[in-house]
Parts: sequence; structure tokens; C-alpha cells
Amino acid sequence: MDKFLIRGGQPLRGRIEISGAKNSALPCLAAALLTPETVILHNVPYVKDLITQRRLLEDLGATVLTPELRTHKITANHVEVFEAPYELVKTMRASVLALGPLLARFGQAKVSLPGGCAIGTRPIDLHLKAFEQLGATVSLESGDVIARAPASGRLIGNEFEFEKVTVTGTENVMMAASLAKGKTVIRNAAMEPEIEDLAALLNKMGARIKGAGTPVIEIDGVEQLGGAEHTIIPDRIETGTFAVAAAITGGELEIKNCNPAHLTAVIEKLREAGVIVDELNQSTLHVRGTGDLLARDVTTEPHPKFPTDMQAQYMVLMTQAQGTCTVTETIFENRFMHVGELIRMGADIHISGNHAVVTGPRQLTGAKVIASDLRASASLVLAGLCANGETLIDRVYHIDRGYEAIVRKLRSVGAMIDRIKENLPETVSAES
Ligand code: UD1
Repeated sequence: MDKFLIRGGQPLRGRIEISGAKNSALPCLAAALLTPETVILHNVPYVKDLITQRRLLEDLGATVLTPELRTHKITANHVEVFEAPYELVKTMRASVLALGPLLARFGQAKVSLPGGCAIGTRPIDLHLKAFEQLGATVSLESGDVIARAPASGRLIGNEFEFEKVTVTGTENVMMAASLAKGKTVIRNAAMEPEIEDLAALLNKMGARIKGAGTPVIEIDGVEQLGGAEHTIIPDRIETGTFAVAAAITGGELEIKNCNPAHLTAVIEKLREAGVIVDELNQSTLHVRGTGDLLARDVTTEPHPKFPTDMQAQYMVLMTQAQGTCTVTETIFENRFMHVGELIRMGADIHISGNHAVVTGPRQLTGAKVIASDLRASASLVLAGLCANGETLIDRVYHIDRGYEAIVRKLRSVGAMIDRIKENLPETVSAES
């Protein structure tokens, strides 16, 4: 397993480019299963989760060509398997996104219950209940979810409300309902930019979706979908992570190819905490750390509120802020796995239920730490960047799941970070 070695204390300065959004590319790849025609996706990030999703599509029988590293041409005209096997699903929860397209186009799908980040139980009951609302029969056999369309072979549009906001649940149903007979109305839908991006792709493929990005999405089902070409939106969580990196090191970064409108809540919170954030234009942010950070409470909530995927990174920032604040996690249970490692580095954090009380500023010191999930790993990198001395982060395969070339990008703006490779053939790296 690769490790990162970070020598902290360097203010980051310069320009950094944002990659395509992992959480948008994943459902967009899955959407290609809805048509026998070719779907071309640009700006797909070169990260481990996308390699896993590509492998899943190929296992199902789709052809995936990559004429360029970040362009995927997917043709699903010979799909003969309708099953996402445990070996793939256990490494990545988003494989469950194959369920909606397979069920809608082929009338059947079998997907193992997902694994993924170790951040709570993360059920998929809401996806399954929604498929049942569209007329599917869903059963659970030996750890696999088996879903079947009604006898006609086609799902039937319906109106229903998610009892809890779910991002991939909304995406799965949007894809399935696109090929259903009649109209579907989803209430209490997730409003994340990735939902809008997927809807934009589906509409290019011939779907009739209105309201994506609002809590009510209306989908008029069509009989078939066709090919399309689409560019994935920038990754807002990568953007936010680099904004914190600039702030926490007292540096100055120009963050290019991003979409500031997608991270309004994060930008507002950083400003409240004393970080200077300027939107230079629609795709460029300028972030400067002043060294005078202020403790400010935050609560994670569905979009457009503060994202859970930025909670760990914001918490590290708060270890460097003057005063005490509370970080409240409302989306996932067990999403404070980074806290123990941050305390080992000198942070003053106390957990009480879903609240973490952070008192700062505390000078962090380098330590040997272990990455536990994707965003927790990002927080440890940030901690290492502002710590005294050397930080060695183990199990960075978690970070490889979602951050493209993070070592190369950080080095290009002055960070002293190295990837220490283990000689395993499976190592994925876009670093070199
Ligand atoms: C997506 C993102 C992930 C982000 C999360 C919340 C992708 C690939 N991943 O994950 O990065 O952290 O949104 O913004 O886009 N829940 C249920 N039953 C379900 C589905 C969800 O109880 O069937 C619960 C979850 O346990 C969680 C909450 O609903 O407590 C929200 O989860 P959800 O929005 O579904 O997260 P994901 O789509 O898995």
C-alpha cells in the first residue's frame, strides 16, 4: 500500500487546476447503460473509483474506449450480464448506480449490497423502495438485491417522495424513470450539482427531465434513449479541499477550472472564518489565508447547505482557528474517523454524539497516521501540510479513489509531499 510523506509548514502558492467531479462522472458512466448507442464523456477524472466503474461496465458487456485519458466512449450494445458482482461493489458503493439503468432497459438487475467508505451502514433501502414505486419487484437473496420490472418489461411512472434526501438514490431513480412508461414525479429529491449534471446528460440522450436541482423532479418516460456527448462538471469537493489547503498554510492559490457557484456554502463559511476568497470569474477562485482564522460552527446538510464531504477538511481548518466551535455531522453516522488521528497530531477535539467540539489554534505535529476513508484522508493531508515536521499517511488508496494526482498538484504549488510506492502491480497513479 502506498503512503504519503509530507513535510509541513510550506505556504502553498500558485495555480492549481480542478478535475472533473467524481460524483458526477460515476452516475454519468452508469447512464451509458441506458442506450445501445455511444455516449462520450469528457473531463472524467482519472481516479480509482472511475476505473472501478469502468470495469463494472466492461464486465456487463459494454465497450469503453478512452481515446484520451479523460474521455470515455461507452457503447453498451452487447449487454448480456445484468449483475454487478460483490468483488466490485464491495470496493465502491456507487456501483449500485448500475441498478436503475439495468432494470429500466433490460427489465432485470442483480447488484450486491454495497461497501465503499467506512462511514456508517449506508443502506440502499430508499433506492429499492423507489424502484418498487415504479412497479419493480425487489428481493434480497444471499446479499444480492434482485430487481425485476413488471411483466410488460417496462417500469411504470409514479409520483412519490423520498423520506430522506439521497443523492445516488435520486440519480438511480432519475435514470430508471427516464425509460419508464408514463410520468414520474420525485419529491424531496437531492439538489446536488451532480444531479443537474446527470439530468443534462440524460436530456441530451433524449430523456425528458425537468426540475433537476430543485426538490421536485418530473420525468416523462420515453421508449428509448440515444447516444450523446457531455462534459463532466468540475469537482466541487476537490475545489473546497484546495481552498482549505491555501487557507491552512497561510498561502495563496488560484483555483482554476472550478465552478464557485457549486460551493457557495463552503465559500461563505471560509469567509466567515477569516479566509479571503475572491471569485475571479465563473471558473476561477482566488483563496488567501491570512493567518488569522476564527472558529465558526458548521453543520453538514444536503445541498445547497454545507456538504458532508467537506466536513473533515473544515475541521482541520478549525484546529488552526482562534476559539472553540462545533462541527455537527447530520448526514452520516460514524464520519469522525479522522478525529482520532488529528488528536494524535495535537488537535484539541472532543466528540459528543454527532458533534465535534474543536478548540484552536493548536500547533499540529507530524505523526504516522492511517487514512480511513476518502475525505478523512484528505483531512490528514491538510493536517500534514500545516504540521511541524513529517507526517506519514498510510493506506492512501482511499484518497486515490477520489482525488486525481493530488501529490503532483500539491507539489506544483510548493507542498513538500511524496508518494512512497509499494511495488504492487495494482497501484493506480496519475501522479507521474
Ligand atoms: C453521495 C456521494 C457522497 C456524499 C453523499 C452525501 C456519490 C457517489 N457519493 O453518497 O460522496 O457524501 O452523497 O452528500 O455521489 N440513506 C438511507 N437509505 C438509502 C440511501 C441513503 O438511509 O437508501 C441515508 C444514508 O445512510 C445517509 C443519507 O441517507 O445517511 C444520505 O445518503 P446519500 O445521499 O444516499 O449518499 P450517497 O448517495 O451514498
